[in-house]
Amino acid sequence: MADIIIKNGYILTMNPAQDDIKQGVVVIKDGIITRVAESTDETADTIIDAKGGVVMPGLVNTHTHAGMTLFRGYADDLALSDWLENHIWPAEAQLTGNDLYIGTKLACLEMIRSGTTAFVDMYIHMDSVARAVEESGMRAALSYGMIDLGDHERGMSELKEGRRFVREWNGRADGRITTMYGPHAPHTCSRDLLGLVKEYAIDDNVKIHIHILETEAELNEMKKMFGMCSVNMLDELGFLDNDVIAAHCIWLSDGDMDILNKCGVNVSHNPVSNMKLASGISPVPKMLARGVNVSLGTDGCASNNNLDMFGEMKTAALLHKVDTSDPTTLPARQVLEMATVNGARAMGTNSGMLKLGCMADVIIVDMDRPHLTPVYNVASHLVYSASGGDVRTTIVDGKVLMDDYRVLVMDEQKVMDEARSATEKILPTVGLTRTT
Ligand code: NI
Repeated sequence: MADIIIKNGYILTMNPAQDDIKQGVVVIKDGIITRVAESTDETADTIIDAKGGVVMPGLVNTHTHAGMTLFRGYADDLALSDWLENHIWPAEAQLTGNDLYIGTKLACLEMIRSGTTAFVDMYIHMDSVARAVEESGMRAALSYGMIDLGDHERGMSELKEGRRFVREWNGRADGRITTMYGPHAPHTCSRDLLGLVKEYAIDDNVKIHIHILETEAELNEMKKMFGMCSVNMLDELGFLDNDVIAAHCIWLSDGDMDILNKCGVNVSHNPVSNMKLASGISPVPKMLARGVNVSLGTDGCASNNNLDMFGEMKTAALLHKVDTSDPTTLPARQVLEMATVNGARAMGTNSGMLKLGCMADVIIVDMDRPHLTPVYNVASHLVYSASGGDVRTTIVDGKVLMDDYRVLVMDEQKVMDEARSATEKILPTVGLTRTT
């Protein structure tokens, strides 16, 4: 007997080998998808009627700092350096492990509600983050964000903490939690630290999550320090391969894109954060044309200001149309691939599709709503008309986390109340001086 049968829904498989099914079933057993078809003779403990809904793979957010939900709307409409140095870093210095636990719980709640089933995170107090993820039922690849600003001693202690976390949490929560190394960026980490991170990551058989060329300032700084840009420096170091997830990748030359493609680097595109901080426009269509695996991320809530991957999909599609003056750029299907298949590929998980043998990370989007009526093209609706609030059911690893808009894995009101009181405590103590 199966665990879950989802029936009567439009099945958006995202599997290149199987077309969508107008009315079909998805069968789940032991956390794995065992059938995607028009019907089934099987029975299950749980039958979910997806009538009027789209059944699709859960969305994968490949770059965020989940605990930053606590800074949602705290410092907006500022220049990036002012925002980071005078507002975000001093506020972060006030955060305790318990604050991060609360902030991450809030992030997981928001993601479950908006159809994200897996995310890639880099932050601080990672044991607390991991504990929140474990309890939430979500899937995540977590890393401790390391910064040494050229200070060797600091670099070594950051690396020690990074490795401790990598080894302690990899594979926990029945494999839902994996770990990565998280060197913050090429200009905030010394070349020695980056070289050691690569060695350690190979040794521990884990991936690396890093920001690359988010700002023009990084490009200029790298050229001044090394006489070359971040991509060239990392390539020379032997750092770049398909075990690297590189967030942003905005200030790239054509040569940089060739290197990222040659090395198989996974790029996480974060259009909302890039637009809000006026960081620039990542050359995503050019990377996709080369064959680079580009996925989508929201970045943290201080620069977005939410974790809604539907909003990210729409923004990505619109931004590159206007940027290329070509409305055929990034069609809806391709954007959906970025948010599902490509994200799973970046994480190295067997998910992102509704396919026999894939992990059962599945969502149901309610189409029986005024702004989604009528339906000519499901993919178009998901990218251009839907939002996270239209997700009615979220399943991760074969467990139902939200059923018909009811979140089953946490007390929603309590999570929001705790987040409010955590920020009340933090914000009055924040000064306006740089702490790092
Ligand atoms: Ni980031």
